[in-house]
Amino acid sequence: MAQLELRQVDKRFDDAHIIRGIDLKVEDGEFCVFVGPSGCGKSTLLRMIAGLEECSDGSILIDRDDVTDHQPARRGIAMVFQSYALYPHMTVQQNMGFGLKIAKTDPAQIERKVKAAARTLQIEHLLGRRPRDLSGGQRQRVAIGRAIVREPRLFLFDEPLSNLDAALRVEMRVELANIKTQLNKTVIYVTHDQVEAMTLADKIVVLRDGRIEQVGAPLDLYTKPANEFVAGFIGSPKMNLLPAQPLAHAGAGLEVALADGMRVTAPCGTAVEAGTALSFGIRPEHLAVVAPNEASLRGEVRVVERLGGETYFHVKAAGQNVIAKVGGDSKVGAGAHVGLAFDPAQAHLFQAGGRRL
Ligand SMILES: Nc1ncnc2c1ncn2[C@@H]1O[C@H](COP(=O)(O)OP(=O)(O)OP(=O)(O)O)[C@@H](O)[C@H]1O
Ligand SMILES: [Mg+2]
Repeated sequence: MAQLELRQVDKRFDDAHIIRGIDLKVEDGEFCVFVGPSGCGKSTLLRMIAGLEECSDGSILIDRDDVTDHQPARRGIAMVFQSYALYPHMTVQQNMGFGLKIAKTDPAQIERKVKAAARTLQIEHLLGRRPRDLSGGQRQRVAIGRAIVREPRLFLFDEPLSNLDAALRVEMRVELANIKTQLNKTVIYVTHDQVEAMTLADKIVVLRDGRIEQVGAPLDLYTKPANEFVAGFIGSPKMNLLPAQPLAHAGAGLEVALADGMRVTAPCGTAVEAGTALSFGIRPEHLAVVAPNEASLRGEVRVVERLGGETYFHVKAAGQNVIAKVGGDSKVGAGAHVGLAFDPAQAHLFQAGGRRL
């Protein structure tokens, strides 16, 4: 196990500034997930930790040992990529043991470690096969197994499940959650998948344009996003965000005006000057579809997406497309006028494009 620390880590490719002053601590045994829009620098940061990219500035410490200038092989790290990068001419057993063979490990020991990893990953029966005779999920397990046998201090995963079909992804996600508890290793994991991030992470790091927007436990990010960007990024479908103007403080809340003369109230921890541009946020799952006279937020249903177990209503309200996600099916169809009710405690206020209030 290992603790990882990044201090003011920077990366420039010529004149492009890709990673900007990242400070981060990942504790021993912690499962840390990097999320952020495409191109924000997740893979670059992971490659810098692995030593596959140099730092332009700053330092990387593993167990308080400065590894910034160490070769990848000396860092005690194993990385698993989206493309499994298995050797096609080798069997599963040979693929998994290859790193150890290169390191001149005793063959009996290699065999013991490979078998133990194969047992953890439930691929013992596949050890004699070649990669082409495996399914995508099985190949990914072999790639993970190859990382496990090296007994690294730190595991790095870059979107390991994104090549799998939806059902297999779910299966592998649960498997990873299992492996996570069994191995109890420090892991840095990059994903685009909200559910993977929420369910696997002890700690999520939200990145944007090479900077950290927020670090926290999944549910903290969900319930208390630090700013409008994180609010819109964590959660699916994303939080509804509507332009708003402050009206009056009322207790611990602030009443705000939305477009079309609608007024709503949300919690607000600070005094807000009149005329400040705000964003009012409410998650789709926190909206209930009710009669128009029963809610202060109202509009016309444009589209209804029925998924069986849940229904998404797209409602034109306060000048925007507002999504409400409700359990089960509903008789309400497109064209209906509805109210969108919510508990004000679950609403959010942000400075427009900025921090939470
Ligand atoms: N070798 C390189 N030379 C120049 N620019 C690079 C290089 N590698 C990455 N970049 C740029 O750095 C930025 C971050 O890339 P990176 O691959 O880290 O993004 P990402 O967050 O992993 O995105 P995705 O979610 O699409 O995988 C991108 O704008 C990319 O074009
Ligand atoms: Mg990437």
